[in-house]
Amino acid sequence: MKLWAGRFAKETDSRVNDFNSSISFDARMYREDIQGSVAHATMLGEQGILTKEETASIIEGLGGILADIESGALPFDPEAEDIHMFIEAELTRRIGDAGKRLHTARSRNDQVALDVRLYLRREITAVRGLVTELLSALEKQARANKCTVMPGYTHLQRAQPITFGHHLLAYAQMFMRDDSRLADCARRMNECPLGSGALAGTTHPINRARTAELLDFDRPTANSLDGVADRDACIELLSALSLIMLHLSRFSEEIVLWCSWEFKFVELDDAYATGSSIMPQKKNPDVAELVRGKTGRVYGDLMALLTAMKGLPLAYNKDMQEDKEAVFDAIDTVKLCLSTFAPMLATMRVLSANMRRAASGGFINATDCADYLTKKGMPFRDAYKITGTLVAYCIGHGKTLEALTLDEFQAHSPLFENDVFDAIALDTCVNGRVSQGGPGLSSVEAQLAQLHAFLQGA
Ligand code: ARG
Repeated sequence: MKLWAGRFAKETDSRVNDFNSSISFDARMYREDIQGSVAHATMLGEQGILTKEETASIIEGLGGILADIESGALPFDPEAEDIHMFIEAELTRRIGDAGKRLHTARSRNDQVALDVRLYLRREITAVRGLVTELLSALEKQARANKCTVMPGYTHLQRAQPITFGHHLLAYAQMFMRDDSRLADCARRMNECPLGSGALAGTTHPINRARTAELLDFDRPTANSLDGVADRDACIELLSALSLIMLHLSRFSEEIVLWCSWEFKFVELDDAYATGSSIMPQKKNPDVAELVRGKTGRVYGDLMALLTAMKGLPLAYNKDMQEDKEAVFDAIDTVKLCLSTFAPMLATMRVLSANMRRAASGGFINATDCADYLTKKGMPFRDAYKITGTLVAYCIGHGKTLEALTLDEFQAHSPLFENDVFDAIALDTCVNGRVSQGGPGLSSVEAQLAQLHAFLQGA
């Protein structure tokens, strides 16, 4: 029998029941639902809306339900409309009339808004923990490779020399920003919607500040319509998760490239690579590829909810039930990706000789050659042109810049002297980039210290 049977002359069609039901996915919020109900009942008791006995019986009953769900003694009823109805019906079955009083001064609309916030708050902490683990793996690899010279790229063309440590620390910056976005999102969502009612509050003398305090929120939400109709927290989180995936995906793409025979900059640990069913020689970076692939899925979750929300009039609309599958899928996916990617990174072997060899070709020191002339007084544009001519000369003669003789250099400009060879040597080119934030060792040390301090504080 439906709760609303009095108003209706017919039973709900079974297809509508199935279509409407959300218990298959919102059951995972059972802890939050019970936690919210305990706070609500406590407040109702303190306000004299429920008697002490009713309050005690509700709280005890809810505790029993929580224990039985966790032990597996109480399976979720797939026929229930949602987790809220399931727990309330089970409570009434267990404690009788007092159970029917729990929903006084509450609606499923503020109840679900509360549950989702409690759930997101907990999950944000879990995701931040995984981001921290990834940052620890980055710190370890970056520290070990602070002097490992590699080519830096633009347009995927060898551009200027950097170190692998510096390259990895670029990702550390991204993931530290991701963490601060998650923290920011958790802080902004930390207002309690409970007490907004269906949309227009309640005539009962409730104390919203008290439920907010009991549930560890900073304050109650300020507007009852907004309290039930707002899904910004979900969308903010989805966008923060999308950015995490974007960063993981770019990193994955690089790892896929670095693992290829064309690059061979790194080798994945056997435990984090996979073989082929037909080609015996293969060692595939499946983890990185899957992370890259799953990025689209998290973007899809963000787009799904943005689109679901865009035309909804205030306040609650059933469309909003779609928020949970999107946000749960994104959280699950990001957690799965982070927890697999971090150990893959931590165990990855860096093939520094190959990186160095790659950095020694491709005229990666051409800018340094131009800079050399500039430091001797030549305007940069002229120095750029002369160096370009030198590179063309080298290509024509199958040489590198550092293999030219001093005579060949001087044929292009009398400013070249014997010290040019040191100026364009690979290590000089890396170590000389002492500008703040650059790949020079002191900048890399400063970035490592920043990352270390972040991890100490995390
Ligand atoms: N299962 C619903 C949801 O997730 C709970 C709120 C239902 N409210 C209602 N008025 N039908 O959004």
